[in-house]
Parts: sequence; structure tokens; C-alpha cells
Amino acid sequence: MSNTLTKAMIQEAADYIRSRGDVAPKVGLILGSGLGVLADYIEEAIEIDYKDIPHFPTSTVEGHAGELLIGTVKGTPVVLMKGRFHMYEGYDPELTAFPVRVMKELGVTTLLVTNAAGGVNTSYNPGDLMLISDHINLTGRNPLIGHNDPELGPRFPDMSQPYSRSLRELAKEIGGKHNVPLQEGVYAGLLGPSYETPAEIRMLRTIGADAVGMSTVSEVIVARHAGLDVLGISCISNMASGILDQPLSHAEVMETTDRVREKFLNLVLAIIPEL
Ligand code: 6GU
Repeated sequence: MSNTLTKAMIQEAADYIRSRGDVAPKVGLILGSGLGVLADYIEEAIEIDYKDIPHFPTSTVEGHAGELLIGTVKGTPVVLMKGRFHMYEGYDPELTAFPVRVMKELGVTTLLVTNAAGGVNTSYNPGDLMLISDHINLTGRNPLIGHNDPELGPRFPDMSQPYSRSLRELAKEIGGKHNVPLQEGVYAGLLGPSYETPAEIRMLRTIGADAVGMSTVSEVIVARHAGLDVLGISCISNMASGILDQPLSHAEVMETTDRVREKFLNLVLAIIPEL
């Protein structure tokens, strides 16, 4: 099954969301594992369960709530996904990115995506925040395969600046002002759900990856297809396989994101009003 999601389905989802309140979000937010705390800072929030939105997938992963929040952050109208969809859950890539299509239909022009990622660059440390400068799609999947509706975007979308240079500059400036140091690097997106082997991590380092994760790439491909500007931030939650002499666990990912929460919040709360 590929690209069975039509413009009509996107509109039905957006119409339902609009029926729940007078909403015109400008910024879309997709938050990674353990980074969903931003949801608590949305003012005048309307909460909509994914299961109530036509054609929306329903999130299955523990720790993800499965709600769309619409409201404001310091006066900026936003739509936030509390819980995202991963291909390792069995969703087709275009379904993981369906909410991005809906955000665009609601009027969003900028997408802020965050994730928890493994550090591949050995100079990184768990707890570092990394601006995503570029990605390598190693999922073997692409959300644009199949019929292309030119109303949604071009058949062969440009990917020369997947993560906006000017938004990265803005983030660095704000990080500097707020004393939040930022790494900048390349995110390798893999299918998962098993973590990588040490040999796979050596390969990723060799091909230029600085961090590795299991989300983001399909969402960003769809965002660029739809003409949205993207800012991406990874929280380095652990070092990838083979770097430290210890096994990886989802518990470590959650521990680190817990620890980084305040720094992360300060950064994104300062960035959002500037988007
Ligand atoms: Cl090491 N690998 C992948 N694929 N995803 C991750 C990770 C590692 N650490 C957090 N998320």
C-alpha cells in the first residue's frame, strides 16, 4: 500500500480539527521520546484525541499520549503532536507523515521536529542537543512513493536544504543567548526497532552521520514536499552501539531526556515565538 492518502482525506482531517475550535496554527511541533513536556506549556490548548481525527493513525508506543494539541506558545499559534508514528510500529511511511500534511492544510508554515537519538560522533555526550543540519534516509522507505498529487507538491522535490539554514542560524543565536550549547550534525534515520550493531555504527560514522534514530526522516521529506521550512533538534540520549562498553536501553533514553528536559524547554520556548 502506498500513497493511498488523498487530498480529500487530508481535508477531512483538517475540517474535523477546525470543527473543534477556531484554529490557525503557524508552527507545527513534533516531539520525540521524553521531550513531550512542551505540551504542558501550550496556552489555551484544545486537546484532540488522534482516534477522533478522520484517517489519523493511533499511536501505540508507551509514553506517547496520542493527542493533537492546538493553542499558543507565548502568543504564537501552534499545533503539537503529543506522540508520533514510527515505521517500526508497522505504519507505512506516508502514514507516519500524514499529520504533517494535515498541519500544512491547517496553515502551518514551519515545522519543528525533535527526537531522541544515539550519538555516533564520539565527541558527543549523552545530554547534548544537536541541531540537525541534514539527514541520511536509511529506512529504505520513502513517503512519496506511488501516485503524486501535484497539488500537494512536486514529483521530484528538492532536498538540498532539508533543514533550513536560516532557522539553524536563528536557533544558534537563541541557544547562545540562553546558554544552551548546541552541536550541529547529520541525523541518520533507520527503520529500527532493534538498535544498531557496533559494525553498523562504524559504517554510519564513515558515511558522515553524527546521530542515529528511528523517526523524523519521513516527516521531513513530506514537510519539504509540502513546502514547509523545517528546524530539527536531536537530544543525544545515549551513545550508539560499540562506543561505550555497555548495552543500550530505552530506559537510558528516558533517563537522559528527563535530565535534559529543562535545557530543552528553555531552548524551544525561546525559539518558537521567533519562528
Ligand atoms: Cl543508538 N539508535 C537508534 N536507531 N535510535 C536511537 C538510539 C540509537 N538512541 C536513541 N534512539
